[in-house]
Amino acid sequence: MANKTLKGEIFYPSDEVLASARVRDWEKIRSEAEHDLQGFWAKEAAELHWFAPWEKVLDDSKKPFYQWFTGGKTNIAYNCLDRHIKTAHRNKLALMWEGEKGEFQSFSYYALWRETCKFANVLRSLGVQKGDRVTLYMGRIPELVIGMLACARIGAVHSVVYGGFTVEALHERLEDSQSKVLIVADGAYQRGKTVPLKSIADDALQRAATVESVLVVKRTGEPVPMEPGRDMWLHELMNLPIANNQSSVEIVDAEDPLFLLYTSGTTGRPKAILHTHGGYMVGTYSTFKYVFDIQEEDRYWCAADPGWITGHSYIVYGPLLNGATSFMYEGAPTFPFPNRWWQMIERYGINILYTAPTAIRGLMRFGEAWPNRHDLSSLRLLGSVGEPINPEAWKWYHRVIGKGRCPIMDTWWQTETGMFMVTPAPAVPLKPGSGTRPFPGVEMDILNEDGKPVAANEEGYLVIKTPWPAMMRTIYNDPDRYVSQYWSKFPGYYLTGDSARRDEDGYYWIIGRVDDVIKVSGYRLGTAEIESALVSHPAVAEAAAIGLPHEIKGNAIHTYVILKAGIEKTEKLLEELRAHVSHEMGPIAKPEQITFVDSLPKTRSGKIMRRVLKARALGQEPKDIMTLED
Ligand code: WTA
Repeated sequence: MANKTLKGEIFYPSDEVLASARVRDWEKIRSEAEHDLQGFWAKEAAELHWFAPWEKVLDDSKKPFYQWFTGGKTNIAYNCLDRHIKTAHRNKLALMWEGEKGEFQSFSYYALWRETCKFANVLRSLGVQKGDRVTLYMGRIPELVIGMLACARIGAVHSVVYGGFTVEALHERLEDSQSKVLIVADGAYQRGKTVPLKSIADDALQRAATVESVLVVKRTGEPVPMEPGRDMWLHELMNLPIANNQSSVEIVDAEDPLFLLYTSGTTGRPKAILHTHGGYMVGTYSTFKYVFDIQEEDRYWCAADPGWITGHSYIVYGPLLNGATSFMYEGAPTFPFPNRWWQMIERYGINILYTAPTAIRGLMRFGEAWPNRHDLSSLRLLGSVGEPINPEAWKWYHRVIGKGRCPIMDTWWQTETGMFMVTPAPAVPLKPGSGTRPFPGVEMDILNEDGKPVAANEEGYLVIKTPWPAMMRTIYNDPDRYVSQYWSKFPGYYLTGDSARRDEDGYYWIIGRVDDVIKVSGYRLGTAEIESALVSHPAVAEAAAIGLPHEIKGNAIHTYVILKAGIEKTEKLLEELRAHVSHEMGPIAKPEQITFVDSLPKTRSGKIMRRVLKARALGQEPKDIMTLED
């Protein structure tokens, strides 16, 4: 790549970056992996601990149900903790945490291991066994990380529900996963107020029959009702003699399930993406190591929420597998003032910051004076994820936060992929707005409607051509949907649901979702979920949701509502409906705008044509409306 001239605006790695980069010749690794995919991943896997070696790196005999490291015995939590406490990492900080109110907690690898062992014993004492599902519902607090690791340690399957979701979303996820235990915080702090998570959970639990025990984490200390025989305080159980360091680790198969994570997709209910111990471990370990080029003394901060895949892979698992120090912050970037983040970077000497374009755009709005008041010179590397980053935000991030010194790792991936797929590494020349090229061993393409690769700079469907270890294994309880949704449009290829183009240098530019997913502030929501929340209001007959461009959020939710006969279209009702969606789904799903309409464009078979609504809202002529009924 060095002697090739790239087209467009390029940011080449500085000598300083090249000097410290773990891999200077990224192309070499890429071509090695291309020639020997299994050899590449086997080498990465060998850096981790296996109780028994794998027989096969990749088993594609049941494709698209690919399996990785089959026959291998391991445990991801063992690799995150036990492996390190036997080394010089024992007393190194694993997790640093700041609460919204400014409190600070830290855990060495030893301390995180000890708390995880205790938590694992508590779960076992409640009868949780290998394979049982455990739902976790709380804010960004250390107990969430420890709870996830405790589940993994005993082979239970965690299902984290984002703390910003509410009753309906939680209920649906408890029910679908048939969880035995719910771990919930009494409440969460949000911009100086509290969110009553436990009482939301109590509502959701009324209809979730499988939950036998509820473990309550004290965070806000506000009074919560406790149901005798079902609800228990975590801190009380953690003080009992059963909760000690003596906790055997469950040795699991590489292909045993590690977690479910619900995400929105094309049509219908959210689906549970299933990831397993072995392949997911290797994928997150390796991508974190190379892309963030993690170094022994680094303090790394991923500002996402553990309730989403970014937090699973790159707050919890990737950093801990690498023996890194991970920082987590409970609150919002601008609370109480827009310098909260910059203040913490300065205070803790953060070296790597990984966040979403929406946060960058939101902070940009307050101007440069806020970050300029702080010493950000500890930063070495920046990261972006969740949605396309517009070049303007990229350059601001690069210049104002990174002071022109820090390369930006724009990482494209999904809940389903588990790990980075299109991403640079520090030594790779960058183009603002492009995630550059696929990670070693990952082959991707862009296809037209007929499944043929498109020419350079043409838009098409983004697909993945080769299997990768951290790939989802199935949709829990719905293997048919796994096949139909991801592997059927272009047989043999994994369909990402995104559209993209590739330039003459092979750099990928993500355009956005082509299905019914709306990315709001980087959060992934489905039109169907928003619509069903609206329709659950007694005044609503029908509803349609679309995403329209928004300066800060990337996309904003716009909805069209047909009211039931005889109901008056009032301003008051509009507000009530917005509040209703927020109550049912969570504040992130609250529509930006609701428009009352008398009809919706539909196909002859009765499907709402959101495409037509979107084109109209943008003042464009809708293309291809042959099947439009009205
Ligand atoms: C979008 C988040 C552009 C994309 C990790 C993808 C991105 C969806 C990027 C997955 C990026 C994620 N540039 N778009 N760097 N990263 N996306 O499952 O549309 O919450 O399909 O995973 O986010 O969202 P998910």
